[in-house]
Amino acid sequence: MDTTPLITLSPPAGRALLTWNGKQPPPPLAVPSAIEVERCGVGDQLLIHGENLAALVWLLANGYRQQINLIYIDPPFGSGIDRARRVRLRGPGPARLIPVAEVEYRDTWDDDAYLQFMYERLLALRDLLADDGCIYLHCDFRKAHHLRCLMDEVFGAERMLNEIIWFYPRGGDGERQFNRKHDTILLYARGDRWTFNYDAVLIPYTRRQLARFRQEDERGRYYWNVNPRGERVKTYLRKPGIGAYDVWTIPIDAALARDLGYPTAKPLALLDRIIRASSRPGDLVLDCFAGSGTAAVAAQRLGRRWIACDVNAGAIQIASRRLRHAILEDAPSSVGFSVWRIGDAAPALRGDAHIRVTHHDNGVTITVEAYTNPLLANISQTLPDWRCIVDEILIDPAYDGVIFRPAIVDAPLRRTTQVRGVYTIARASLGASLAIKIVDAAGGEAFTIVSI
Ligand SMILES: C[S@@+](CC[C@H](N)C(=O)[O-])C[C@H]1O[C@@H](n2cnc3c(N)ncnc32)[C@H](O)[C@@H]1O
Repeated sequence: MDTTPLITLSPPAGRALLTWNGKQPPPPLAVPSAIEVERCGVGDQLLIHGENLAALVWLLANGYRQQINLIYIDPPFGSGIDRARRVRLRGPGPARLIPVAEVEYRDTWDDDAYLQFMYERLLALRDLLADDGCIYLHCDFRKAHHLRCLMDEVFGAERMLNEIIWFYPRGGDGERQFNRKHDTILLYARGDRWTFNYDAVLIPYTRRQLARFRQEDERGRYYWNVNPRGERVKTYLRKPGIGAYDVWTIPIDAALARDLGYPTAKPLALLDRIIRASSRPGDLVLDCFAGSGTAAVAAQRLGRRWIACDVNAGAIQIASRRLRHAILEDAPSSVGFSVWRIGDAAPALRGDAHIRVTHHDNGVTITVEAYTNPLLANISQTLPDWRCIVDEILIDPAYDGVIFRPAIVDAPLRRTTQVRGVYTIARASLGASLAIKIVDAAGGEAFTIVSI
C-alpha cells in the first residue's frame, strides 16, 4: 500500500499545548486514487472534488510537498448550523427562494472531533507550504482560541504574524450581548522569510491628508512642514498611503452569496486583499475548504495559480462555473484548470434530462426539452419552465469517454437570465460521440452521451 507519512513535530519544552480526548498524531495515510473528469482550457490548476485530507495526502505524494506559496482556509466554524441550499429560481421578476430538503454542509461537531480534524489537516498543510509561504486560517469567536493554540503547535508561536479582524457591519442585532460582527483570520508564516507586499495593500491617503503635503523641494518631492499641533516639521511624502492595519472593514457580499446559492461565500474583496498581500504573480495558492471557490477566483484574476478542494459536489459545480467565467470572460488567454475526483467522493445527485438530437447536413441541433431533479419534485408542477432550476448546460462535441471538455458553455451568472436550451454544432467540430452536462440549482446534474 502506498502511504504518505505527515511530519509531526516534537514541541520544544516549555510550550503550552492544547489537548483533547483522543488527541493523536495522524497515522501514515494511504494515497487515494484520483481521476481527471473535466478540463477547462489549458493549464495545470486543480479543482479537486473530495475529502480534503485525502486530497492533501494525494498532493504530498504527487510532487507538491513544500510547493504551495499561500494557503487560505475557511473551514467549518463549529456553528452548530447544518446548512441546506436555497434555490433561487431563475428568470425575470421578483426573486423566489425554495429551500432544498437535503443538508449540503454539516457544521455540528463535538469539540474533540473538531480539534482532531483540524490538527490532521493543519499538519498536512504545513508539509505542503513552501519555506517562505504563509497560511491564513479563517474562523470566528467559537473556535478562534482553540485554533490559535493548534496553529502555535503546528507552525510555532513565533511564526504568528497577525490576528486579523474582519469587521462586517450591517445586519443582525445582539440584544443579550454585543452584536457579533467580526471573524478572526490567523496569519502564520512557515519559516523566517515570507512574502508581504506592503505596497499592494497600502491604504491610500485621503485628499485631506494629501493636502497637507503642500511644499515642494528643489527635487520635486512634496513635504509637509506643519504637523497637526501646528509645529513646523519636515516630513516627506514617501509612499502613496499608510501601511494596512490588521482590522479590515469589508462588507459581506450578501447578493453574491444569494446569487451563487452558497450562504458561506466570502466577499471577493477579502480574498483579493489576502492574495495581493501574501503572494506574487505566478505563485501557487491552495484552499482546501473551497466552498464556492472565492479564493481560486481571486487568485485566477490576480494571475496566481491555484488548487482548490471541496468535499461537496454542489460546491465544485458552483466553483467551476465561477472559474470558467473568470477565465473565459475576464482573461480568455489565462491559465485553465482540470477537475479531479479523489478517493470515494460522492458524485452529484442525478437529475433527469429529456434531450432531442436533430441531425442535418451541417451538423446537429441539441434541444433540451425537459429537466427534473428528484429533490425538487415537490415544486416541479408549479414551475413555469424547467429552465427556472437549471444553472448551466455544457456540451463537449467530441467527448473521448473519459475527460469532459465543454466547448459550448451556457451558464448565465445572473439569476434573472435563463439557459437557452437549444444549441447547434457544426459537423467539423463533432467527434464520434458528444456529451451534454446539465447542472441544476439544487446540486443535481444529468450527464448524457450521444453517439453521432
Ligand atoms: C465556510 S465554507 C467555505 C466558503 C468559501 N470560503 C467561499 O468563499 O465560498 C466551508 C467549506 O468546507 C467544505 N468542507 C467541510 N469539510 C470538508 C472536508 N473534510 N474536505 C473538503 N471540504 C470540506 C464544505 O463543503 C464547505 O464548502
